[in-house]
Amino acid sequence: MANTVIITGASQGIGKAVALKFASQGYNVVLAARQLERLETAANEVRSFGGEALAISCDVKQPEEVNDLVQKALDHFGHIDVLINDAAVYYMGPVEEASLDDWHQIIDTNVFGYIHTINAILPYFLERGSGTIVNVSSIGGLDYIPYQIPYTTSKFAVTGLTKSLRAELSSKGIHICGIYPSFIRTRLMERALFRGKDEETVQARYKLLDTALNSPLLEKPEDVAQAIWKAVKYQKKDVIVGTANFWTTAFHLFPGVMKPVFRRVFGMSDRYQSKN
Ligand SMILES: NC(=O)c1ccc[n+]([C@@H]2O[C@H](COP(=O)([O-])OP(=O)(O)OC[C@H]3O[C@@H](n4cnc5c(N)ncnc54)[C@H](OP(=O)(O)O)[C@@H]3O)[C@@H](O)[C@H]2O)c1
Repeated sequence: MANTVIITGASQGIGKAVALKFASQGYNVVLAARQLERLETAANEVRSFGGEALAISCDVKQPEEVNDLVQKALDHFGHIDVLINDAAVYYMGPVEEASLDDWHQIIDTNVFGYIHTINAILPYFLERGSGTIVNVSSIGGLDYIPYQIPYTTSKFAVTGLTKSLRAELSSKGIHICGIYPSFIRTRLMERALFRGKDEETVQARYKLLDTALNSPLLEKPEDVAQAIWKAVKYQKKDVIVGTANFWTTAFHLFPGVMKPVFRRVFGMSDRYQSKN
């Protein structure tokens, strides 16, 4: 009997690459995101690998929709073996420009979205005495990066959630894994929130991230998918992906160098302010 994986944020980027990877390894795949049309396109790609795919429109901010997602996956496949929490939204800008609505959008998606799926699936995993939960965090959940504070706050929360879940649940047969990528070549920009003191700064930030995400030096979603696949297969705990190892090591060895660099790269409005 084929194993079943639920992946949130599966319509594009890392989530979609993970869906294709698990399908290629014989998994049934449940793909979740809000926009059903995109999700169906991704599901059709999964099916082209010969895998069974179920696309379910779900806003992870809504607990009822998440409960429904888990129930539909169980009704369709009869069992769930792996949950991969991936859906998230990025923020770039000074903290004082983040409205409470911005904070809610980031925290409600990136933190409560993960909590909702875990809350929905955990009773089932505990009853079975087995199951794997993978939380996609970020190096922003390990190192304190300025000008992304709602995002890094959310990712630090995911890191804490992951490590404390592991401390409590590993003795109950539940494998908990955290994944920490650096910047990855995806279309993260599409939903990201860009803020700044004026439109010029916002546009400059947009351009900065756009250029960074299109760099051929960055890893691809498939690299993260491979890391997640290995983490599930070999029951790894925390996986820092590829170049993220370099950045976290540099940050911890040379904080006096790295912190000003991050401030300078991301803190555009500060530079403009000091010019004016
Ligand atoms: N790309 C990077 O540089 C990078 C680096 C480190 C960590 N990460 C992490 O990796 C994960 C995936 O990133 P990515 O770059 O692949 O993102 P992405 O390309 O922006 O894709 C985000 C996915 O999440 C879904 N989503 C967003 N809000 C949702 C909601 N409320 N409910 C359900 N689905 C929702 C989107 O579909 P809908 O809009 O249709 O819902 C989409 O499928 C995230 O956790 C991110 O923080 C990314």
